[in-house]
Amino acid sequence: MKIGSIETDNFTVLAPLAGITNLPMRRLAKRAGCGLVNSEMISSNGLVYGSGKTELLLDSTPEEKPLSVQIFGSNPQIMADAARIVQDSGADIVDINFGCSVKKILKSNSGSALMKDPPLARRILESVRRAVSIPLTIKIRSGWEPSGKQALQIARLAEDCGVNAISVHPRTATQGFRGTADWSIISAIKKALTIPVIGNGDVTVPTEALRMLSETGCDGVMVGRAAIGNPMIFDEILALAHGRPPKKVADDAQRIEMMLGYLHDSVRYLGEKTACRMMRSRLCWFVKGMRNAGQFRNAIRFVASEKEARQLIRQYAGTILPSARNTEP
Ligand SMILES: Cc1cc2nc3c(=O)[nH]c(=O)nc-3n(C[C@H](O)[C@H](O)[C@H](O)COP(=O)(O)O)c2cc1C
Repeated sequence: MKIGSIETDNFTVLAPLAGITNLPMRRLAKRAGCGLVNSEMISSNGLVYGSGKTELLLDSTPEEKPLSVQIFGSNPQIMADAARIVQDSGADIVDINFGCSVKKILKSNSGSALMKDPPLARRILESVRRAVSIPLTIKIRSGWEPSGKQALQIARLAEDCGVNAISVHPRTATQGFRGTADWSIISAIKKALTIPVIGNGDVTVPTEALRMLSETGCDGVMVGRAAIGNPMIFDEILALAHGRPPKKVADDAQRIEMMLGYLHDSVRYLGEKTACRMMRSRLCWFVKGMRNAGQFRNAIRFVASEKEARQLIRQYAGTILPSARNTEP
């Protein structure tokens, strides 16, 4: 997929997920072959006026490139300044959030609110386009009613403003995650535009990714929730697309390795205290569907140190993997 000057290795994309797609999570997706990873959404105000805490969200490593960084906001000048900061941080693509429908975001006229205010959307896109030379993308929902008319209008406007690609999650702003994503809106936008269109919504297994490609004609497939507990899904999708067996079968041993790697990366990236607090919920995702998962979840809920987390993962491995039984010191 070619997004402006950036060419990705393949059509798979990790969705922006607030509080989740930080550097350690993006690395897992990348190691599984994901073509393009997205940061979680970052406040433009936070970047321009905020503390170094927001800037930490821009941390990246060469291994995960190309990286797309998503910003949100509603002030054209602040959005342009924030986009410049993103560009200066070394990101490859800047993405603007047109989809978030959380109350606090809507109240500030950001996210999905932009889909019902085309004049403001245009001012933001023109201002950001002028400010950066790296590719610019947007991520939208269907709009505020199910027909997808607003999505089409915003998509056309975006192309006109020099946006290089558009991701479409075809649920309405009021729909949250209920019901199903209406992929026909992805098809309609693909037909109407010349820039790449990335389809998103309800891809839970590799066959669905290929069905989205063939049914909608989209250029890329973005995966969100299904990648949270199983970042290997990107390799599974690519394997299916190329008719080869998955390189890294997401078996129990593999998941244990992944959990240890994720723990290690998270502690290095966030510091032990914050990482351990995060691990209490995050590590639970990885054991979904595995044997004795309940026991592990109960134990990890109170984890307070990297050493303890490592021990709990190894102890858990001992209960499900014959090869791991005698390795715990
Ligand atoms: C926990 C969570 C956090 C999300 N954060 C963002 C975000 O920061 N920016 C954004 O554009 N979309 C965000 N989304 C929406 C996803 O990117 C994606 O559009 C949605 O989950 C549908 O894709 P899926 O069916 O593959 O999960 C979030 C979704 C979830 C579940």
